[in-house]
Amino acid sequence: MKVILGIGGGIAAYKAAELARALVEREMTVQVVMTRAAREFVRPLTFAALTGRKVITGMFDPDGAIEHIRLAQESDVLVVAPATANLLAKFAHGLADDFLSTLYLAFTGPVALAPAMNSNMWLHPATQANLETLRARGHHILDPEDGPLACGMTGPGRLADPLRIATFIQALAERRRDMEGETVLVTAGPTQEPLDPVRFISNRSSGKMGYALAEAAAARGARVILISGPVRLAAPPGVTLVRVRTASQMRAAVMEHFEQAGIIVKAAAVADYHLASVPAMKIKKTAARISLELDPTPDILAEVGRKKGSRLLIGFAAETENLVQEARRKLESKNCDMVVANLVGQEGTGFESDRNEVVLVLKTGEMVPLPAASKREIAGRIFDHALRLRLALAQ
Ligand code: PMT
Repeated sequence: MKVILGIGGGIAAYKAAELARALVEREMTVQVVMTRAAREFVRPLTFAALTGRKVITGMFDPDGAIEHIRLAQESDVLVVAPATANLLAKFAHGLADDFLSTLYLAFTGPVALAPAMNSNMWLHPATQANLETLRARGHHILDPEDGPLACGMTGPGRLADPLRIATFIQALAERRRDMEGETVLVTAGPTQEPLDPVRFISNRSSGKMGYALAEAAAARGARVILISGPVRLAAPPGVTLVRVRTASQMRAAVMEHFEQAGIIVKAAAVADYHLASVPAMKIKKTAARISLELDPTPDILAEVGRKKGSRLLIGFAAETENLVQEARRKLESKNCDMVVANLVGQEGTGFESDRNEVVLVLKTGEMVPLPAASKREIAGRIFDHALRLRLALAQ
C-alpha cells in the first residue's frame, strides 16, 4: 500500500513524525510531501529518515513538475496531517499553488484530512463551511480532539492521536477493493406520498445515511444500485441511481433489482401509510375540519425478507424508544440478517445529520454498538460487519 502523507504548516507538524513512523510500521510505503510552512516547523530530514524516501517539498524539485501526476496515479490513499485552515480552504476551493494542493486535485483515491489549529480558527464559519464542502466531496475528516493547545487556549483543535490516524489509514487502504465482484442494493432517503396534486406526506430523511452506504460500497469495489427517494444529494461516483418518489415506486424498483444483489441494505425511511386513492384536483380549503383515511404502504423489507434466499439482508430501525428490543423484533419478523438500529428524534444523529450513532443487531445474536461518528465512517463499519457476518453464517 502506498500512502501520501501531506504535512501542513502548524505546530502539530511534529506529531506527523509519529504518524509517519506508525504508517511505516504497518508496512506501508509512505511518501511525505511538506508545504513550505510545514518546513518552518520540522525539517524534511526527519521524515526522510523515518520513511527512507526523499521528501517532496516543492513543485520545481529536480524530479520535475509532472511528479504530482505520477504520484497521484500510483498511490492508494492521501492523508494530510496536520491539515491547516489554509490547506482546508485551498482544497475546498481547488487552489493549486504548491505541490500538495496540486497533487490533491490530481488524486482520485480516498482522502483523509486530520485538521489541527487554534479553536477559534476551527470553529470559524469559514473553516466549518470548507469542511462541509470537503465532507460532501466524500473525504474523511478525522476531527481534532479537545484539550490544551500550543497557543494557550483549551478547546477543539488538537491533532487526532497519530496512532488512531494510522489505524484509520490502514483500514482505508486495505478495505479499498474488498467488495470487488459484489453487487449491493441500497435504498435511501424518504418517500413522498401524495395527498393531492400539490401536497404529500413525507419525513425528515435526507438520504445521507443511504448515500454514505452506497458510496462506501462503491469505493470498496462493489457494483452499487442505489434506489433513492427525493433528496438533494448527488449520486456517488460509479453508482447506478434509480430515482423513485412513493413507497410503491420504491417497492417496484427494489423488486426489479434485488435479485442481482448479494447484499441488500434498506436505509430508506419509507412512509408507513399513504392515501390509496389520490384526488385528481387540489383539496380545497374550507372552514370545515377534514380527515384523511390512510392505508398501509407495502412493507418492502418484509417482502424482500420472504424472497431473499441466501442474500444478506440489512434492515434499519429508526426508533424513539426501546431501540434494541424493537431492532430484534424487526430482525426476526422481517427475516433480516442484520438490523442497524438508530435512535431518532434527537439532535446530532439520525435524520438529517452528517453523523450517526447505531447499534448493529446481528442474526448470530451479537450486538455491536458503534459510537457516534460520521455517516461515512458508520457505513464502512456496517460493511465490515456485514462481510464478517456472511462468513459466519456460511459456516
Ligand atoms: O436519511 P438520513 O437523514 O441520513 O437519516 C438516516 C435514517 C435515520 C433515515 C436511517 O438511518 C434510518 O433509520 N432508516 C430507516 C428509517 C425507517 O423507516 O425505519 P423503520 O423502523 O420505520 O423501518 C424499518 C425498516 O423497514 C427500514 O429498513 C425501512 O427501510 C423498512 N421499511 C419500512 C416501511 C416500509 N413500508 N417498507 C420498508 O421496507
